[in-house]
Amino acid sequence: MAEGSVIGVAGLGTMGLGIAQVFAQAGFAVLATDALAAPRQSAPTRLAQALDARVAAGKLPLADRDATVARLRIVDTPEDLSPAALVIEAILEDAPAKHALFAALEGVLAPDAVLATNTSSLSVAAVAQGLARPGRVLGLHFFNPAPAMRLVELIAHKGTEVSALALARQVTEAAGKTVIPSPDRPGFIVNRCARPFYGEALALLEEGRSAAEIDAAMVAAGYRIGPFALIDLIGADINLAATEGLAAAMGGHPRYHVFDALRAQVASGNLGRKTGRGFVFPDAPASPPADAAALALRIEAVLANEAAWLLSEGGTTAQGIDTAMKLGLNFPRGPLEGLRSHGLQTILGVLAALESRAPAHLKGRYMPPLALSETQ
Ligand SMILES: NC(=O)c1ccc[n+]([C@@H]2O[C@H](COP(=O)([O-])OP(=O)(O)OC[C@H]3O[C@@H](n4cnc5c(N)ncnc54)[C@H](O)[C@@H]3O)[C@@H](O)[C@H]2O)c1
Repeated sequence: MAEGSVIGVAGLGTMGLGIAQVFAQAGFAVLATDALAAPRQSAPTRLAQALDARVAAGKLPLADRDATVARLRIVDTPEDLSPAALVIEAILEDAPAKHALFAALEGVLAPDAVLATNTSSLSVAAVAQGLARPGRVLGLHFFNPAPAMRLVELIAHKGTEVSALALARQVTEAAGKTVIPSPDRPGFIVNRCARPFYGEALALLEEGRSAAEIDAAMVAAGYRIGPFALIDLIGADINLAATEGLAAAMGGHPRYHVFDALRAQVASGNLGRKTGRGFVFPDAPASPPADAAALALRIEAVLANEAAWLLSEGGTTAQGIDTAMKLGLNFPRGPLEGLRSHGLQTILGVLAALESRAPAHLKGRYMPPLALSETQ
């Protein structure tokens, strides 16, 4: 039963505290721990501070803030999480560390308790491998900031039990989230399907277009923020690390090419907002160029192609991909909705033209999956 379930959280950094807040705010009792004493000791204060903005805005009564903080109980060791029906780990991004934590938890939790990893880049199967009860392990991928972002990707590995998925989904939905099943593939849905938003913009930049006009074209097409402004927000170094990670996980396929322009930006030290200058930050937005619609169509064609490849690999649905991209990235439409609105023939034509004039290092980048090209 989801109601009344105790939720465990391991790791009280950015994500762990946010996840603890999500469940405590929804009325769950939350037990949480961290390997270090300092984040354990500061967690209740940090949670109260996180809620204070809403108290100050008159959106949250002080008593509700205090009740939320009271539902978070900090414990000293992972073993103290034993009453939890579901433990979500948000510790460092390291498979052996996550595996060791789950191995310790298995010894103390109820046999039907669920172990969820919030990993962004590790395979859930790899985290589960070798555990006594791998069937109780799954991924619950929250987005940052967890209290504000509605999307949670739910990842099953091949051996995850249906009842474990059902419990994770039930409690996460009860905490107000939209849960989208995602395959246990690198980048899951959002981090993978987002790559062309940045990558194709970087390809255009390397062809001589300016970052400002590319951003303006995407804003004119309905996107809240252009690809370069988004890299500036995330940090070019973080974006580069995510791109390199996915490129390696996908065997260096040119669809995940790491563009020199991104590496050069990182090398320049102009990483974005955090350093005071990025690709476009802090400049005022530009006007869209005359061919803005063509630039946006090109980026949307490559976004649609990546989504089609993921769809062809199984474990997700077109609707799931579209919903995840709208909620995870604030896109005005999902990549497969974009495919439908532009029309398959238009998208295939754009991809074919790009492929035919692709330089050697990008050959193969624009090839659609067979399922997509066969529907023409
Ligand atoms: N930051 C993001 O945007 C984001 C988004 C989605 C997923 N994630 C994933 O969430 C996880 C946590 O990321 P974060 O940004 O919150 O990291 P963070 O560095 O802010 O926090 C990690 C916390 O885990 C603690 N910790 C480390 N090893 C531990 C252990 N063995 N047992 C208990 N606690 C331990 C650390 O002391 C630290 O407080 C990572 O797997 C990351 O990939 C991060």
